[in-house]
Amino acid sequence: MEQRTIGSVEVGAIGLGGMPMSIEGRPDEDRSIRTIHAALDAGVTLIDTADAYHIHADEVGHNETLIAKALSSYGRDTSHVLVATKGGHLRPGDGSWTVDGSPQHLRAAVDESLKRLGVDAIGLYQYHRPDPRVPYAESVGVLAELLDAGKIRMAGISNANPDQIRAAVDILGGRLASVQNQFSPAFRSSEPELELCDELGIAFLPWSPLGGIGRAGELGGRVDPFAAIAAAHGVSPQRVCLAWMLAKSPVVIPIPGSSRPETIVDSTQAADLALTADEVARLDATA
Ligand SMILES: NC(=O)c1ccc[n+]([C@@H]2O[C@H](COP(=O)([O-])OP(=O)(O)OC[C@H]3O[C@@H](n4cnc5c(N)ncnc54)[C@H](OP(=O)(O)O)[C@@H]3O)[C@@H](O)[C@H]2O)c1
Repeated sequence: MEQRTIGSVEVGAIGLGGMPMSIEGRPDEDRSIRTIHAALDAGVTLIDTADAYHIHADEVGHNETLIAKALSSYGRDTSHVLVATKGGHLRPGDGSWTVDGSPQHLRAAVDESLKRLGVDAIGLYQYHRPDPRVPYAESVGVLAELLDAGKIRMAGISNANPDQIRAAVDILGGRLASVQNQFSPAFRSSEPELELCDELGIAFLPWSPLGGIGRAGELGGRVDPFAAIAAAHGVSPQRVCLAWMLAKSPVVIPIPGSSRPETIVDSTQAADLALTADEVARLDATA
């Protein structure tokens, strides 16, 4: 697979989003492990997770534990696989998502993630979502502290606006490796963040790149240019969507979620799908 860069680390241009394997509607563990193994077989070397990817209050880190299990049962070397986790979001168990960006919470959360992932240092640790009750500099300041302490190798932020990206670059002394924001054909409002990352050379990881769990199928509407261009290439509209994102900037590394081997294998082939400038322009114009 084509390689792209997060900080100093090369990863396959298409990553795997772990969320569908751990939240509502998740499959059984066997299918999830097969999905992760299929991703590795296809050349995926970036797996995105979070401590908040779980359903019940007593299973925080369900997805991290699952990924650690899949990596250790793969049977081949996985030391080059970058597991990117996040802290600062919580799921109390009633279906809701809450935030806690306090330094105490983030420090404790990273220690728990280290244990679940079974590593000495987390490859990429991302502050999941700004907490309006905590100054951004305090939350991101913890990432700087964790980098200095060697508990995380790279630091990223998520759900950040351009001012927060610039602030994080400052707070981290230029060590901001990635920004993860929602970006898909139906949700383009992160274009300014994508452009800023392109300018600064920071990896941009679009989340819900296909429109989100349960909505990824809508990309194939019959009159949609995504479907028409997919038909012309004889590939899925989802593959066209990911190839379109890759064409936007070399800093873009989509992390499509998957809970079935077939879907992640299909998605990884987007890295080999070359779209013409005219096709990219037609897809851009669908906004
Ligand atoms: N930072 C944040 O706040 C945040 C928020 C949301 C998500 N995320 C991250 O971003 C990742 C991706 O987002 P997402 O999972 O919400 O949504 P998504 O990637 O837009 O869509 C996921 C769904 O797309 C389907 N799919 C994947 N590849 C496909 C293909 N080639 N053809 C047809 N269907 C395909 C999957 O179906 P199957 O399940 O049937 O395989 C899956 O349920 C998450 O997994 C998570 O890691 C981050």
